[in-house]
Amino acid sequence: MANGEDSRGRDRGPFDPDRRRRGEPLLEDDSGPERDSVSLDLVYELIAGTEEDDPRRPAIYQLRRQLIDDAQRYQDTRQEIVELEGACEKLTAPANRIGVYLGSPKERIAQVVVSGSTYFSNVDPRIEMDTLRVGAQVLLNEAYVVVGDLGRTDTGSVVKVVDQLDDGRIRVGHETTGQFTVLQRGSDIGDDKVASGDEVLVDAAARVALEVFPKQEARDYFLDEVPDVSWEQVGGQDEAISAIQDAIEMPLLHPDLFERFQFTTPKGFLLYGPPGCGKTLIGKATAHNLVNKIRERTGEDIEGQFLHIKGPEILNMWLGESERKVREIFSIAREKRKQGILPFVFIDEAESVLGTRRALRSHNISNTVVPMFCAEMDGIESIDDVVIILATNRQDLIDPAILRPGRIDRKIKVNRPDESGTREIFRIYLTSDLPLDADLLARHDDDPDAAAAGLVDAVVDELYGERDDTRFLEVAMADGHRETLHRSDLVSGAIVASIVQRSKEYAIKRSVETGEEQGISFDDLRDAIEQEYTENEIFPPTDNIGDWLKLIDHDPESVVSVSPIRASKQRVRRQALRGVI
Ligand SMILES: Nc1ncnc2c1ncn2[C@@H]1O[C@H](COP(=O)(O)OP(=O)(O)OP(=O)(O)O)[C@@H](O)[C@H]1O
Ligand SMILES: [Mg+2]
Repeated sequence: MANGEDSRGRDRGPFDPDRRRRGEPLLEDDSGPERDSVSLDLVYELIAGTEEDDPRRPAIYQLRRQLIDDAQRYQDTRQEIVELEGACEKLTAPANRIGVYLGSPKERIAQVVVSGSTYFSNVDPRIEMDTLRVGAQVLLNEAYVVVGDLGRTDTGSVVKVVDQLDDGRIRVGHETTGQFTVLQRGSDIGDDKVASGDEVLVDAAARVALEVFPKQEARDYFLDEVPDVSWEQVGGQDEAISAIQDAIEMPLLHPDLFERFQFTTPKGFLLYGPPGCGKTLIGKATAHNLVNKIRERTGEDIEGQFLHIKGPEILNMWLGESERKVREIFSIAREKRKQGILPFVFIDEAESVLGTRRALRSHNISNTVVPMFCAEMDGIESIDDVVIILATNRQDLIDPAILRPGRIDRKIKVNRPDESGTREIFRIYLTSDLPLDADLLARHDDDPDAAAAGLVDAVVDELYGERDDTRFLEVAMADGHRETLHRSDLVSGAIVASIVQRSKEYAIKRSVETGEEQGISFDDLRDAIEQEYTENEIFPPTDNIGDWLKLIDHDPESVVSVSPIRASKQRVRRQALRGVI
């Protein structure tokens, strides 16, 4: 049976649906247009062979018209059929598999993972091997030949990086569950080091890392560089500062001597004391000064990195998360050290995460954080590696395991400033380069230094004056006696800084109102003191005795209750009259 004939041998023309069944193209290739042009040629021959007035001419013309129309129709139909055939082919073709390209072990051979199985596949010669990137998705035909490059997928699961192996592979997994996987690097990741704590987008089946997301949380811990705080910016804390210098700077400055005595250098220290007295400030200044000292000693341009962690940040209600964060902090610190940077880990409000079991239970935090912290700390040789600084208002709540010798065994108290300390702090903030009140300057022969010093003396006298209206708190002690605390018993560096800030606001406001610069006056400072002590911020928001004890810096054992003495009517009236800020 010839092509184009049906079972009975009839010619079915150029379009024969049976051809598809037989696996042949629907159209005969040679067919139509040529045949039509032959017919047309015949018609033209007929026309040429007849006279103009030959009665057959109209019929021949009609035939010519018909032939042209047919040829056109034929072309259209043919086009339609070609399209249909293409669609038909697509619909009936088997689906291509998608695999992940892992590299080329041999010329024109691709290592591909498809549904968890690895293949060495041939590659369609039309695909340039150089353009295939590790981690990219590739199309494979039935014979598992790579026939298309789809590029990298943007979706998938994201996992945490534990570390990068020396050969560049990446170890990921969960420290807590102890399940790790080693991943190959995708081409898009490049050669940059992937840091512990970063996250990577993975093709889990192919075990290849596709994209890196830099560490999220760690960024919050960082104050990128060591803060620029010198000891001069800390007032009234000479004792604490010299204790820190002995504990931290001496071993670093005289390493030989310490080694001769086989002296085990500490790994860090605990700063404790009432709120706002400079623990955080001292922590930052320690880092700043230590880095400077090491630079001086070694002549190297060593850098420090300050990881400022607020205790509650590690707190996480989800089981296992807090431990992970502790590990992450130490692993970041170790990594920094490897890069030649001296890391400082400063954990503020340390009692919230490193507290005794009882203290932690109230925070709903699992008590495995403390053992983990201890284990991490035991892994640190000395402050040459990592300096750990803890700060707390409640050293009585810190788990004793943390404070054991060999760990954080230096406890340094950051006291509430006494009168001379308060004066020092006022001098830091109330400097002679600020606009000072004209009368005040006149009284000091226009000498700004003398005027500023006079202003500081006056404001300290005001703050330390004990009058009826300066009474602030009543504390009932366990032994039955009561103590009245005045404003000066509650002064702190933070309060001093805030008083000066307020006085500046008053002077600025006055300057705006009068249209000319008005300097800070004693009245501004006195009003600022009133305002500072009247505002509620000084009072803890709850009636939790613990919060009150933080504030008054008394031994928790000996205090029964604390009650604020409300602001006097006079104070309230003054505040209302002034109506500022
Ligand atoms: N001794 C000080 N000398 C100079 N400024 C101080 C001093 N103490 C506190 N300040 C000022 O008060 C601000 C708050 O102090 P800081 O954060 O160091 O207190 P803290 O002891 O850490 O308090 P908390 O227990 O609430 O964390 C500082 O940024 C600084 O402006
Ligand atoms: Mg602090």
